[in-house]
Amino acid sequence: MNRFNYEFPVRVHFGEGCFEESLRSELKKYGKNVMLAYGGGSLKRTGLYDRILCILSEEGKTVTDFAGIMPNPTLKKVQEGQKLAREIKADLILAVGGGSVSDCCKIVATGEQPIPLGVVVTASGTGSEQNNGAVITDEDKKVKGAMWGAFAQFCILDPDLTKTVPLKQVISGAFDTLSHCMETYFGRPDEVTLSDEINEAVQRNTIRNLRRIADNPEDDFARSELMWASAMGENGILKLGKVTDFQCHMIEHQLGAYTDCNHGQGLAVLHPVLYRHIYKNAIEKFNRWAQEVWLVQDAEDAINYLAELIYEVGLPTTFSEMGITLDDETVRAIANSTIITPGCCRKLTPDEIVDILNECK
Ligand code: NZQ
Ligand code: ZN
Repeated sequence: MNRFNYEFPVRVHFGEGCFEESLRSELKKYGKNVMLAYGGGSLKRTGLYDRILCILSEEGKTVTDFAGIMPNPTLKKVQEGQKLAREIKADLILAVGGGSVSDCCKIVATGEQPIPLGVVVTASGTGSEQNNGAVITDEDKKVKGAMWGAFAQFCILDPDLTKTVPLKQVISGAFDTLSHCMETYFGRPDEVTLSDEINEAVQRNTIRNLRRIADNPEDDFARSELMWASAMGENGILKLGKVTDFQCHMIEHQLGAYTDCNHGQGLAVLHPVLYRHIYKNAIEKFNRWAQEVWLVQDAEDAINYLAELIYEVGLPTTFSEMGITLDDETVRAIANSTIITPGCCRKLTPDEIVDILNECK
C-alpha cells in the first residue's frame, strides 16, 4: 500500500425522503444570499425548483438563479457563474443537479475568497459531490479536462429526487460508477489491497443493481444502492494507497470535447475495447477481477461479461449507436490530445488510442 493522508470534508446527508429536513438544517448555518444553480430545465419540470424556493424563502434567504448549466459544462459557463456569484456576494452556492451542475459550481466556488457550496444531487453516477475535481470543457481549445476546485461543505443524496431521471441517464450514470471503480482497481500497485477488496464489493453491488434497475425502473432499493455506490466510487475510500488508472476516462473526455457526447455512454463503448488491449499486461489482477467480481475464471471471460452487461442494459456498444461518426482526422486529434495516465497497467501510445477509437466505431 502506498502512503496516504486522509481527510473527508463533505457532510453527507443520505436517505430516501431526507431532502427537506437536511436542507433546512444546513441553510441555518449560512448567510442570507443564496445563489441557486441548476441545469437546463428538469428542475422546473419536476417541481423541485418550487419546493426549494419555498424552503429558501421560509428560511429567510434571498435567492439569485444561476440557470442553464449544460451537460458537459463549459469554461464560459463557469466564468458566467463566477461573475454572478461575486456580484451578488453569495453566502452560499446551492447546486442542484447531476455531475455537470456540481462540477461547474465547484469551480465557481473557488477563488481568493471561496464561497461555501452545498450540492443537492438529482442524478447520481459521477460522485462529483464527493470530491473537489471538476471536468470542464474549454470549447475554444477543444479540451475537456480536470480542474481542481472547492469541496462542497455538504451534500444531500436523496434517491427520491432521482426518480424523474430518464432511465437511459440512470443507466449511464450507474455505468459511470462502475467505470470509476474499475479504473481505480486497475491502478497501481497491482497487489490486492484492502481498498481493492472494498472496491470489489462496490463493483458487484453496482452490477447487480444496474441489472435490477434496467429490469424495473421503479426498483427503489436498487436506485438507492446505486446512489450510495456512486458516492463510494468517488469519496476517496477506494483510492486510498493507490495511483488510479482513469485511462478510459481520459480518452472519453477528449471524445466528449470533440462530440459533446454523454459521458457514461462513451465509457460503455470504450471500456471492453480498451481492456482487450491491456489485460495481458496485468493478467493476475484481471484474473482476480474475473473471479471476485464476475465469478468466472479468466480475464477474457470477464471482459466478455462486461460487454454483455453493457448490451443487456441497453447501453451503446459502438460510437455509431451513439450517433457519432468520426473521420480519421478527428480520431487522430482525439488520440493526440488524450492524457496518458501513469497508473494504467500499460502506458498507451497515441497510435494505440487511434486503434482503440477505430475499433469502437
Ligand atoms: O440539465 P437538466 O435539464 O437538469 O437535465 C439533466 C441533464 O440533461 C438531467 N437531469 C438531472 N437530474 C434530473 C434530470 N432529469 C430529470 N430529473 C432529474 N432529477 O440529466 C442530464 C444529465 O445531467 P449531467 O449532470 O450532465 O449528468 P452526469 O451526472 O452524468 O454528469 C456528467 C458530467 O460529469 C462529469 C462528466 O464528464 C460530465 O461532464 N464527471 C465528473 C466527475 C467528477 N467531478 O468527479 C467524474 C466523472 O467521471 C465525470 O467525468
Ligand atoms: Zn466518470
